[in-house]
Amino acid sequence: MTQNALAIIVLAAGQGTRMKSRLPKVLHPIGGRTLVGHVLATASRLGAETVEVVVRHERDQVVAALASEHPDAVIVDQDEIPGTGRAVQVALDALPSGFDGDVLVLSGDVPLLEEETLQGLVDAHRAAAAAATVLSAIVDDPTGYGRIIRDEAGDVARIVEQKDADDAEKATREINAGVYVFRAGLLRAELAQVTTDNAQGEMYLTTVIGLLREHDQKVAVEIAADTAATFGINDRIQLAEAARTLNDRIVRRWQREGVSIQDPATTWIDDDVTLAPDVTILPNTHILRASTVATGAVIGPDTTLVSTEVGEDAEVRRSEATLAVIGARATVGPFSYLRAGTTLGEGGKIGAYVETKNAQIGDDSKVPHLSYVGDATVGRGVNLGASTITANYDDVNKHRTEIGDEVHTGSHTVLVAPVRLGAGAKTGAGAVVRKDVPAGALAMSVAPQRNIEGWVQKNRAGTAAADAARADSAE
Ligand code: UD1
Ligand code: CA
Repeated sequence: MTQNALAIIVLAAGQGTRMKSRLPKVLHPIGGRTLVGHVLATASRLGAETVEVVVRHERDQVVAALASEHPDAVIVDQDEIPGTGRAVQVALDALPSGFDGDVLVLSGDVPLLEEETLQGLVDAHRAAAAAATVLSAIVDDPTGYGRIIRDEAGDVARIVEQKDADDAEKATREINAGVYVFRAGLLRAELAQVTTDNAQGEMYLTTVIGLLREHDQKVAVEIAADTAATFGINDRIQLAEAARTLNDRIVRRWQREGVSIQDPATTWIDDDVTLAPDVTILPNTHILRASTVATGAVIGPDTTLVSTEVGEDAEVRRSEATLAVIGARATVGPFSYLRAGTTLGEGGKIGAYVETKNAQIGDDSKVPHLSYVGDATVGRGVNLGASTITANYDDVNKHRTEIGDEVHTGSHTVLVAPVRLGAGAKTGAGAVVRKDVPAGALAMSVAPQRNIEGWVQKNRAGTAAADAARADSAE
């Protein structure tokens, strides 16, 4: 029974020097998830008995990141002996004692491989009863990768690393994707013979392939159908390329599901986003994290949504929203910023140059121009006049503003929180509202206007304004 058991080892202990980063390489994100997070998400669907992750470089940061998203992964610490071979060796030692099944080795920096490819590799390995099965790819530019060296019969003889390869070997375009299936017992035995005698002074996992062949074991190779999915990430250029490849995949998936995406090149959609059929996405739009968009909604151009929910037939143009909920048929933008905790009711409107935060705005309510609405509850059918501001912060604490149904505020109203406006209340233009306004009342706080006749002609004689005023009053 244990013969067919599957254990997965994810290598994530390397330093990632070529990234030149404070962040461990495997924690760099693409598509809203870390590189190693992508590998683990795929690995978790293969029905393995155990999934181990080997860590060392910045191990606490890596472990903390894994703890939240993949708490079931078993953490294994690599020691000071460097190399992928050593990483696998310590992981084998940490497997349940007596484990003698198949071991799938994945690299934490090869994030784009899909479940079918990995399952296919495991199936091929078992069907061929091989000691090891290597995933390879035929690439235009093999620089940096280990090369698959085949014998006259066309079977894999060994893998040679870039830094150890001669010119003829370097010309080989078949590369090692860094993903393999091994029989656990044979792998354990061969690793015991692997040394650090090579250009990098590391224990290479790839050395095992040549050793198995020397010991007359069968090594199979599967050439990946999707070459781009095998790409490993070692520097920022490859990081950007992988992000693009992943994004293309996500965009096409949603297009097939009935989403209109006008410009795939400038549309970025994270892996965890959900879009409904007949959503339209206009250029330069980023839909990130766990955002969801309902049918008929139009997003963009130039819009960023982060963990935001958009209702049916809503429109969000040239705006940014984080942790917000935008109701059905509501409209947002252009040029507005919905911060965390904003909810906009059905048929509501947040117009131009508006910032909102922790604000629940009711159905059919409008905040059309130049406003700040923070820590506020706004009822239904409300209209906040241009430049209405909730003054929610007194330098020490944040306070709430409560606005009842059908309230209309005059332009440039300042609502000094905590304050409450009853249903149907109104405020005059420029009102500074410091006291609660009862339902149906009109609040005014501005002194009556006084005109001082002839002031300009008298005090600004000789100016263009004075001349214009004189000409106008003479008519
Ligand atoms: C490795 C392969 C190479 C293959 C390429 C595919 C070896 C020796 N070479 O090269 O044949 O073409 O991947 O992408 O295996 N790691 C550890 N512990 C270590 C060193 C590395 O866990 O001591 C991890 C890294 O975090 C990384 C993975 O192993 O996730 C691969 O290491 P990396 O240094 O990137 O190997 P490559 O030079 O890319
Ligand atoms: Ca690599």
